[in-house]
Amino acid sequence: MFSADRRIFLHQTAKAGVAWGVSSLFGSAFRSAQTSPPNTDDIVRVYLDSRRVVAPLDRNLFGSFLEHLGRAIYEGVYDPGSKLSEANGFRKDVISEIRQMGVPIVRYPGGNFVSGYNWLDGVGPKESRPRVLDKAWNAINTNQFGTNEFMAWCKAVGTEPLMGLNLGTGTPEEAAALVEYCNLDQGTKWSDLRRKHGVAEPYKVKRWCLGNEMDGPWQIGHMTATEYGMKAQDAARQMRYVDPALQLIACGSSGPFMPTYLEWDREVLEQCYDYVDGLSLHRYFTNAPADTGGDSSKFLAMNLSMEQQIAETLAVCDLVRGHKRSPKQLWLSFDEWNVWYRARNGDHANGHHQEAPHLLEEVYNLEDALLVGGLLNSLLRNANRVKLACLAQLINVIAPISTNATGLLQQTIYYPYNWALQYARGSVLMALVESPTYEVVRMGQVPYVDVAATTNPQDGKVGIFVLNRDLSKPHVVEINWQDKAPGQVLVSAVLTGTDLKAFNTFESPRKVVPQDFGKPSTVAGRTRFEVPARSYTVIQWSA
Ligand code: AHR
Repeated sequence: MFSADRRIFLHQTAKAGVAWGVSSLFGSAFRSAQTSPPNTDDIVRVYLDSRRVVAPLDRNLFGSFLEHLGRAIYEGVYDPGSKLSEANGFRKDVISEIRQMGVPIVRYPGGNFVSGYNWLDGVGPKESRPRVLDKAWNAINTNQFGTNEFMAWCKAVGTEPLMGLNLGTGTPEEAAALVEYCNLDQGTKWSDLRRKHGVAEPYKVKRWCLGNEMDGPWQIGHMTATEYGMKAQDAARQMRYVDPALQLIACGSSGPFMPTYLEWDREVLEQCYDYVDGLSLHRYFTNAPADTGGDSSKFLAMNLSMEQQIAETLAVCDLVRGHKRSPKQLWLSFDEWNVWYRARNGDHANGHHQEAPHLLEEVYNLEDALLVGGLLNSLLRNANRVKLACLAQLINVIAPISTNATGLLQQTIYYPYNWALQYARGSVLMALVESPTYEVVRMGQVPYVDVAATTNPQDGKVGIFVLNRDLSKPHVVEINWQDKAPGQVLVSAVLTGTDLKAFNTFESPRKVVPQDFGKPSTVAGRTRFEVPARSYTVIQWSA
């Protein structure tokens, strides 16, 4: 099914007119498996120039998400009965893991949950908080963890809160009251209530999501685009009367599968464009037989479909901007994205009126991790307009980290996510990539090799992230440093394996883990290395 083709993939059209001497460049950088020089037609050529940048990278592109869902909060983050927890009831191992990863922003408390949530149930003396039936997941919320616990946890892990608001059953007045509770110092009804609850200093929460997936018939309080757009506008106005410094995100479409895709976004923005700063996108990817035919080469191309979704949504934002003659350009908040398709329906989404039920505990395999790497590459390449994104979610529920009573497990998708957090720094480079391609039905020609790169003007470090979608063959990649070549390799690692379906468990936590990638050398402004079949690779160089 693969056709040999060769295309240039970039956010520009220039044809690469660079000459190269092949054999002289084969040094120690070329991985040992290679015994003879590759056919030059098969080499993937990447052109990088530190002057050619997409945008400065907003760290919030690597945010995550914690919902009152399953064991994400209760047991995952908050488990006062556990010997692994500290005085507040927060799991210490989870705190230290998230702190070490440096997750910049965490969305809370939902998700579908937020559309039926009364934030007042989750504040004040714990013994007075009601046990509530959460109708989104049919589970019991004891409310022992609420807004103040979340803020304390954010402080403990060193992250920023991204607060979700109930625009389903909740009113704009209640949304503004929560802003007042969180952000005003004192002397008003809600700020004084926070003080009465033992929190003297306001949190000054900057970023807020105006509801969740309000286009979805599954959403509590689902309404039409016009109704939602007007409600979001009213909420935004009332919230900004309380705190003018807020950054507000309107609910965009829940994904391209929606019959109202893009039309929802357009109508919502016609109502509230002037009152918001960003628009949300959501997307979950699947390799279910019904979607990809279980074809992993198609699945690994899906990050390009995320880029199409971004482009289409931006087109709508900019259309409405034109209608309104607005000087303001919106940014996108891709505030739910991940692979999710196995732990999805039936009992996987039914809490049976239990506390902390096991819901959406997706087990991630190698191919999921490879696609997550590709999705991170896509987010990076769109960093000029996507300023915030949340891997959904963070702990136990469709998550890179799972917990049990004795510790935590890094799932396969942890690794690409953590690499982005550690090594994608500074500005995103506009990588021109010339790669052989393969045919994917309804997508056309897809490059085997997908590249994203960053450069940090502060310390000169360069990071490169390479997905090899080829299921059977390694590819030689040649980086052509067009202005200045980098220094020493500081870090290099690859995630790969023979079994795309391999996964980690508490019993076998190291089935899918990164391997050392060696130290590709740079000669005459070029670096060559070979990426194995089915792999995601990171390399970081010094200045
Ligand atoms: O992240 C799980 C769920 O997926 C969220 O609650 C909802 O917003 C989305 O449909």
